[in-house]
Amino acid sequence: MGAVAPVYVGLLGVGTVGSGVAQALVAKQASIGELVGCPVVLKRALVQDTAKRRATALEANVLTTDAAMIMDDPAIAVVIELMGGEEPAYSLIKTALGQGKHVVTANKEVIAKHGPSLVMLGEEHGAALRFEASVGGGIPLIAPFRHSLLANDVSSVHAIINGTTNYILTKMSREQLELAAVLKEAQDLGYAEPDPSYDIEGDDAAFKLAILASLAFRTRVAPGQVFREGITNLSARDFRYAGELGYAIKLLATAKQRGGAVEARVHPTMISEDRILAKVDGVFNAVEVNGDLTGRVMFYGQGAGSLPTTSAVVADLIELARAVHLGLPSTPVFQPQRDLPVMPMDEIQTRYYVRMTVGDKPGVLAQIAQILGDCDISIASVIQKEADAAAQVAEIVLMTHLAQESAMQRALTGIARMSSVRDIGTVIRVED
Ligand code: NAP
Ligand code: HSE
Repeated sequence: MGAVAPVYVGLLGVGTVGSGVAQALVAKQASIGELVGCPVVLKRALVQDTAKRRATALEANVLTTDAAMIMDDPAIAVVIELMGGEEPAYSLIKTALGQGKHVVTANKEVIAKHGPSLVMLGEEHGAALRFEASVGGGIPLIAPFRHSLLANDVSSVHAIINGTTNYILTKMSREQLELAAVLKEAQDLGYAEPDPSYDIEGDDAAFKLAILASLAFRTRVAPGQVFREGITNLSARDFRYAGELGYAIKLLATAKQRGGAVEARVHPTMISEDRILAKVDGVFNAVEVNGDLTGRVMFYGQGAGSLPTTSAVVADLIELARAVHLGLPSTPVFQPQRDLPVMPMDEIQTRYYVRMTVGDKPGVLAQIAQILGDCDISIASVIQKEADAAAQVAEIVLMTHLAQESAMQRALTGIARMSSVRDIGTVIRVED
């Protein structure tokens, strides 16, 4: 490529994903250079500890603990943020865009919370922000929403978008293991967030759903508006009972547009085994989009892990490095055109699975049915699963017909107050 000037890159973070990106920049140097039109060179990489052993060895003069070595270097045209967490990632992205540097990030928290304002800041300084890796790891999702699906009015997005929890739920279901035993495996495989409670409590999926729903409905859905419930209340026996009823349990992210409002929620969900989403296992993610022109479209692939995520990061880098090399302006993304209200969780309607332990004596079921009936909730089925004659308790599993969330919460409060109810073990919403 002779004396063509390279595009220099600054990397913030050389962990699971950053190591993959640093490796790809070397291993795929020739093809990346061909696509961009000039060499793309990693000039500096920010870490916390330069002495730490890394999956990809970098030259000593590349690693730094001083962010200014990247931010204040006018030769660095593109910054890739792969540190994770809100701070200092958000401040560093802001600084980079403010200096006119393009930014690529995989940080769903920063994008979900600050995406639109960062895009505007970048525009003011001729800098672009790209975040394909922030949702679905290696699955192309942001680009289809930005281009290929634009002609559609999207009515719903149903997504399995957290690889760690899907890996855990798959193992709990197949091997009847409890959560804590499997989480460590997901961490060792590099799927989990630096703070894994973000995965298992549903925050990571809620950030990703906020991004997808904002793009799908061309509105602003803030992460705080997404209802979230994690997987920590699920027990191995729920998977057994769900299987007997013909369902799989997934941490499902659901966004719908109904009557001029948006519904956005993340929670464990029972999905009929007939649906493709029920068959998405392990670290795989899937996103089902319903457009008025396309009908149902499904995106499927590895939602976490170093190499799949590297694929998305490097694709964004290639696009921006090409713009730098050719001196082209790059188009902004994530500019919401509408301001649709987000529906309170109380107003959503779904079916419910409830597992509870009750005193094994006459009249208890009738009392529970009465409370549900008073709340306008109709029972679809009741099964007594296990009884402990010595303790005089029985475990019952009931499924309801469609009910309003506020009514269900009212009924559960009433049932929990019954002296014969020992424990409401699990409540799972059902997606038909
Ligand atoms: P990680 O393995 O924990 O790596 C984080 C890196 O950032 C480390 O190199 C760390 O330095 C550096 N770092 C963190 N805080 C820093 C600070 N204050 N100053 C300087 N350096 C700092 O994280 P990861 O799994 O690669 O995830 C990175 C980002 O990608 C996150 O936003 C995550 O949500 C996203 N993502 C991850 C995956 C995945 O499968 N892992 C998939 C999609 C998206 P040291 O190494 O010196 O500690
Ligand atoms: N911790 C995330 C997950 C990484 O498990 O999906 C990918 O965003």
